Amino acid sequence: MCGIVACIGTRPAAPLLVEGLRRLEYRGYDSAGVGLLRDGKIETRKRAGRIDALAALLAERPISGTVGISHTRWATHGPPTDMNSHPHLDATGKIAVVHNGVIENHAAIRRDLEARGETFVSDTDTEALARLLGQLYAEAGAHGEAAFLEALRRALRRVSGAYGLAILCADCPDAVFGARKGSPLIVGIGREEHFLASDVNAIVAHTREVAYLADGDLAVVRAHDFEALRMDDREATVAVSRVEHDAAAAEKGDFPHFMLKEIFEQPHTLRNALRGRLNPEDATSVLGGLNMTAAELRGVERIQMAACGTSWHAGLLGEMLIEEFARIPCEVDYASEFRYRNPPFGRNTLFLAITQSGETADTLAALREAKRKGARVLGICNVVGSSIAREAGGGLYLHAGPEIGVASTKAFTSQVTALALLALYLGRLHHLSALEGARLIRDLENLPGQIEEVLAQSERIRAIAQRFRGAASVLFLGRRFNYPVALEGALKLKEISYIHAEGYPAAEMKHGPIALVDERTPSVFLCPRDGMYEKTLNNLEEVRARRGPVIAVATEGDREIAHKAEAVIPIPAAPDHFAPLLANVALQLFAYHAAVALGRDVDKPRNLAKSVTVE
Ligand code: G6P
Repeated sequence: MCGIVACIGTRPAAPLLVEGLRRLEYRGYDSAGVGLLRDGKIETRKRAGRIDALAALLAERPISGTVGISHTRWATHGPPTDMNSHPHLDATGKIAVVHNGVIENHAAIRRDLEARGETFVSDTDTEALARLLGQLYAEAGAHGEAAFLEALRRALRRVSGAYGLAILCADCPDAVFGARKGSPLIVGIGREEHFLASDVNAIVAHTREVAYLADGDLAVVRAHDFEALRMDDREATVAVSRVEHDAAAAEKGDFPHFMLKEIFEQPHTLRNALRGRLNPEDATSVLGGLNMTAAELRGVERIQMAACGTSWHAGLLGEMLIEEFARIPCEVDYASEFRYRNPPFGRNTLFLAITQSGETADTLAALREAKRKGARVLGICNVVGSSIAREAGGGLYLHAGPEIGVASTKAFTSQVTALALLALYLGRLHHLSALEGARLIRDLENLPGQIEEVLAQSERIRAIAQRFRGAASVLFLGRRFNYPVALEGALKLKEISYIHAEGYPAAEMKHGPIALVDERTPSVFLCPRDGMYEKTLNNLEEVRARRGPVIAVATEGDREIAHKAEAVIPIPAAPDHFAPLLANVALQLFAYHAAVALGRDVDKPRNLAKSVTVE
């Protein structure tokens, strides 16, 4: 949520920053701005709207310099206007701040500063920090880096909340300052240039050498080196690591949208999730990153998961897989609810945080709450080096590559795969036989090829989506393993097409949503030939009896269903527990094509952001 890029070196900063912001636009796209430091002065350009609007402004009124900070905003405090865009300046205009996160005590700081005669120009929480910093720097009575760092430390001690910051001070022309607490910040190490960014994708075109700052770290970034310090003056220890992917992985290539690219990547990303993790000989999985011994894992009596959005849906399917194959009681909670719920933890509860970005504020807070209660904590994350990956004691990386489309697709498939691998491993430590384990391995190995078959249906799905694009509301219904995918299918459609959609357990539909059924409200039924097939068909008939149009996602060759549905999306025959993954790919395509048919901005749906780093 919000993106930060800063650079210092020998190249003109403005184009570098704008290019970096474009790569981060998925993190927020309400407004954007840059600030450059040159000849002892800071100049800013800020514009409401997309990065293109900022680029046009810079073309009209260019700024030069080789030191700069920039920001793309997802509005929290104050509407998306030019004035509320970052950077924000202090009273003297000598300090400029870009900020991700929320300064929670901004109102008190603002009141205090206004009483001392300051006049605020924006509605943001960030301006309170910029002005406070300016006051404290002025009070220091000295100029230069040491005095500025001291003022920064004092300011950060006064604020509560979360922040990732990049800051310029006109008295320090050879440095960009960074600070992090609760919002990610990375130093990029280039040749004769260094960067600060909220996300490696902003800078990976220039360097793959990065240092991840930890909460409580400050950074002084210069053209030739950088220094990491702790807030309390100690030296920080930051390791330099290499980013796994290159810049091309975060580009659209020949696809019209990132979302479509990511949907089509799934056979490949799923193979990556499985690579090196299957042991057919022992009919189990190999999960080196868990950092738990077999004995410790055998002792796990309960699994508690927390996640948000699509990751929560993956957790719900994972819960069913773990209970089915490992027979361990398992529960997934919305992270935002879990963190305030005061749940009791048994001594042998294992906590899993499921998250693509590894930065979702509620999931991070849930993980910390679980740790506080003494639970063993693992992360199932995609982004390497993310906050959750680092704070968890171990876990599983998805290796799905950067996911840029705001609506999550490939991460879901890989998260469920990771949870299936965990279910297999835990199952084999308990009662699951070698034969059952081997069958599960074969099922997993078949998935990438089966997903390719679903992708080959894209044109057919497009035609169906176009036919139903005028619907005001769509129901998604499925039972057992298909229920989480009914929820996810509905979420995908509403996120990117803005068509109202509701996912429900197909039988539970009778207790409410059936009132919505009429000839204009289509129902998408997930009805592969599984153990629940007949039961699901009964529910389908209940909808048809009320003249509700039906779109069926069904096993290929199912003749029966063809007579009962207005449209059929065929998926390959697969075991009950994995058919939903195939159905989900079909529903991703359905949502995508519906959104395109309606002319929506698929990769940047309104009001959403990729990584929600505020509560
Ligand atoms: C946002 C995104 C969703 C994502 C959710 C959780 O709402 O738009 O696509 O599923 O956050 O994100 P996470 O990174 O924790 O999986």
